[in-house]
Amino acid sequence: MLRRLHSEQPDSFAFTADNQTWAEAQLTKFPDGRQASAIIPLLWRAQEQEGWLSKPAIEYVADMLGMAYIRALEVASFYFMFQLQPTGSVAHVQICGTTSCMICGAEDLVAVCQEKIANKPFTLSADGKFTWEEVECLGACTNAPMAQIGKDYYEDLTAEGFAKLLDDLAAGQVPLPGPQNGRYAAEPRTGLTSLTDYESGKTQYNASVQLAADIGDTVKRIDGGEVPILTPWVAADGSVAGRSASEQPPAAPKEPVTAAKQAAAAKAAAPKAPAAKAPAAKADVADAGEEKAPEVLTASREGGADDLKLLKGVGPKLESMLNELGFFHFDQIAAWSEAEIAWVDNRLKFKGRIQRDGWIEQAGKLAAGEVTEFAKTAKADGRYNDD
Ligand code: FES
Repeated sequence: MLRRLHSEQPDSFAFTADNQTWAEAQLTKFPDGRQASAIIPLLWRAQEQEGWLSKPAIEYVADMLGMAYIRALEVASFYFMFQLQPTGSVAHVQICGTTSCMICGAEDLVAVCQEKIANKPFTLSADGKFTWEEVECLGACTNAPMAQIGKDYYEDLTAEGFAKLLDDLAAGQVPLPGPQNGRYAAEPRTGLTSLTDYESGKTQYNASVQLAADIGDTVKRIDGGEVPILTPWVAADGSVAGRSASEQPPAAPKEPVTAAKQAAAAKAAAPKAPAAKAPAAKADVADAGEEKAPEVLTASREGGADDLKLLKGVGPKLESMLNELGFFHFDQIAAWSEAEIAWVDNRLKFKGRIQRDGWIEQAGKLAAGEVTEFAKTAKADGRYNDD
């Protein structure tokens, strides 16, 4: 599109006193020698004052900024938001003619402009109150068809509604901008189908912010014991919130640890050892280092096994493995030496976990009847580690 200065120009231009003060203030935003950076806001203010950019207005702004006239004209003629011809005294109407609006009736709006304003764009209406043009997408596509009139958007337009809107403007009224079909914003016309929690007041924030607020672990350091915090939808018994009974994960098998089974496990671990002592099985243990088989039991003592899950880092699976190796009581674990820790470590295949989680210290306290911090929490919540 050819954009050039209008054939008829006023003799002069000057900012009003207030606009002059505003424009001079803009210059202070930029370092000395860089005042040309204010070219767009100053041209825009000139257009807001007059309705369009005349040659005197462009030169006036160029003078203020110490720019060659041609540089200011380059800017004014490059950007389509600058009108280089007189516009209507009431409004310049911009009809979006891009895909969404075109599909939804932009042509009908153009027809209204042609009927009520002028047959051709950029032409003053007979009463001088309006001009119009078709523009590219204005970014309100979900509310198509739409028009920008003055500074605001009028959306969800119909030909009839738009015609009345122009009549109202001509009569000196200013119709309320925004969707013209009762919509609040860009929600479905038939009402919300998603994010309804917000509408009904059930949540205060959008979904991701609400979840963050509910969990409250935004900057929490993670040490691996937060399973309940990180999976708040999983209950202590492993059931998942929001799932029907048939959709729940299968419960972990709870095989009773029989004496025969323990004996077999101990035998497998230490085929050549005396019955109550399990030697190191070096052949199947890589990088075992110095290790020594601890004392093991073939079954728990009278009174039953301790709940080893009260040790941080021990869940049902690890507890079962420990039982199979012949460990049922806290005092057994508390008594492990370095070499015995290495022996257990190699068989559990969780190298370093015993020391890292402090099993020996925890087991010592629990064996003495004390309650550890972890055991207190696990008991209170009815939750254990889940390894
Ligand atoms: S297509 Fe009209 S606003 Fe985007």
